[in-house]
Amino acid sequence: MSRSVPRVPAVATPFLLALTLALTLTACSGPGGAHGTPGSAGLADPYFPKAGNGGYDVTHYALTLAYTPDASDTSDTSDTPNTSTPLSGTATITARATQNLSAYDLDLKGMKVNSLTVDGKNAPWTRTGQELTVRPPSTLPKGKAFRTTVRYSGSPETITDPDGSEEGWLPTADGALALGEPTGSMAWFPGNDHPSDKATYDITITVPKGLQAVSNGELGTERATGGGRTTTYTWRTTHPMATYLATVAIGHYDITRTTKNGLPVYVAVDPREAAASREVLAKIPEIMEWEEYNFGPYPFSSTGAIVDRRGDAGYALETQTRPFFPGAPDTATLVHELAHQWYGDSVTPKTWRDMWLNEGFATYAEWLWSEDHDGDTAQQTFDALYKGDYYDNKADSDAIWAFPPANPTSAAHISDSPVYERGAMVLHKIRRTVGDARFYDIVQGWATAHRYGNADTADFTAYVEKMAPGKDFSGIWKDWLYGDGKPARP
Ligand code: TRP
Ligand code: ZN
Repeated sequence: MSRSVPRVPAVATPFLLALTLALTLTACSGPGGAHGTPGSAGLADPYFPKAGNGGYDVTHYALTLAYTPDASDTSDTSDTPNTSTPLSGTATITARATQNLSAYDLDLKGMKVNSLTVDGKNAPWTRTGQELTVRPPSTLPKGKAFRTTVRYSGSPETITDPDGSEEGWLPTADGALALGEPTGSMAWFPGNDHPSDKATYDITITVPKGLQAVSNGELGTERATGGGRTTTYTWRTTHPMATYLATVAIGHYDITRTTKNGLPVYVAVDPREAAASREVLAKIPEIMEWEEYNFGPYPFSSTGAIVDRRGDAGYALETQTRPFFPGAPDTATLVHELAHQWYGDSVTPKTWRDMWLNEGFATYAEWLWSEDHDGDTAQQTFDALYKGDYYDNKADSDAIWAFPPANPTSAAHISDSPVYERGAMVLHKIRRTVGDARFYDIVQGWATAHRYGNADTADFTAYVEKMAPGKDFSGIWKDWLYGDGKPARP
C-alpha cells in the first residue's frame, strides 16, 4: 500500500467523515497548522524510564524562588494542619521543539501549579504523578524555540530513591537544601529532569533577612528586598548543567570569597562545621591545581563548596561548581567531588546506566591523589580490592563483584561499589595497558572531547581504542566492564 493514501472506507457515511475530521483535528493544531504529536512522557532511561520528557530540548531555566522556612516545622505546637507554602516559584523554561509538538510534559513532583503560559499565552495543563502535561495553544513546529512559564507554590517534597537515600528538598535546622541526584530536581522546579538535557540557569532566591542562599555558578547581586524583610540572591550558571547538579542551600553560612588565578572560589560553611572544615577546605586551590594538571583545564567559571551539618543529607554531592558536603569533608571526599566537575558535571552520562563514568573516575581520582601524596599507590588499592582485604568484612569485599560497572542490576544499585571501586579498577586496567603518558592523554582527551556534553560507555571504549591503536582492550571490556562476577585474573 502506498505511503500516503489514507484508508478511507469505500462507503464513507457522514458520521465516519465527521469522526475522521475530529481525530485529525485532535492530532493537529487545526486548519493550516503544522501536524504535531505529543512528546513522550519519559526518555526511556534504563533505570528511570519516566525521568525527562521527549519532544524538546531545554536551553535555559530562569528560576525565581522565594522560601520562608516553615515556622510550624519547628515551633508551632498547635494541631492546626500545615497548609503553609514555604516555597513559591516561577520557572521560565526556554526550549526548542525537536518534533512538531502538540503537547509535552515537564517533570514536577508535588507542589501546586498556579498558572502556566506558553509564549505568554495561557495554556491548559494536567498532572499525573510526576508528569505535568502542557497543551500549547497551537502546535510548536520542530525547531521552534518556545518559552514555558510555570508559577507554582507549596511545600516541596523530599524524595526517597530506590536505594533508600533522600533527595529533592531537604529541610534543615536553619533552612533547606535542594539536592538532585538522580531525580530530585523535580521536587523544586519543573523541567526536563534527565542528565541528557543540559541547560544554563539563572536562579534568583529570596529568603528572610538574616539567611543566606547559595547556589551554582556565580553570585550576581545580593540585595535587600521586601522593604528590608528579605534578601534576594541572584546566581548564574553560564555553562550547561544537568538538572541533578542544580542546588540551592538556604541557611546561616560563613561565607569565604577568594580567587585562585582569577577563578572565584565561593565557600559556604554552616558555622557549626566551620572549625572542623577549615583545614580541609583550605586545600581547594591545591586540589584544583592538581586536578587541572591531571585532568586538563577546569571547565567552569567558579568553584567552592557548601558544607551543611552532618545529617542534613546522607551523602556528598558534586553539585556543579559548588559541591555539597554534609559536615566537614575529608580530603579524599573533597578530591572526589571536585574531580566530578570534569567527570560527571562537564562530561555527563547519557543515561543513569553510565553512572560508572562519573563514579569510577571520581574514585580513581582519590587513588591517584593518594599515590601522589605519599599514600597507597593506585596499584596497591587495586590489589587490595582484588584480594579482598580492602574492606574489613567479607560482605563488602564480595559486593564489588555483584554486577559489572557498565550494567547495574537495578535503580537501587546505581551507587553501589561495582560502580565506584570496580569502575576505578577498569580505569586502572586501562592505565596498566597503555602506560602513564598515554593514560593521562586519554583522561584529559576524554574531558575535552565531550566537554559540556553527554557520553556513554560505548563512546568511552571507542575513545580509548582510538587513542591507543594496536592495544587490545577486549579482555578489559569483556571481563571488567561488562562481565558478571570476579574476573579470573587481576
Ligand atoms: N554522586 C554522589 C557522590 O559522588 C553520591 C550520590 C548521592 C549518589 N546521591 C546519589 C549516587 C544518587 C547515585 C544516586 O559521591
Ligand atoms: Zn561520586
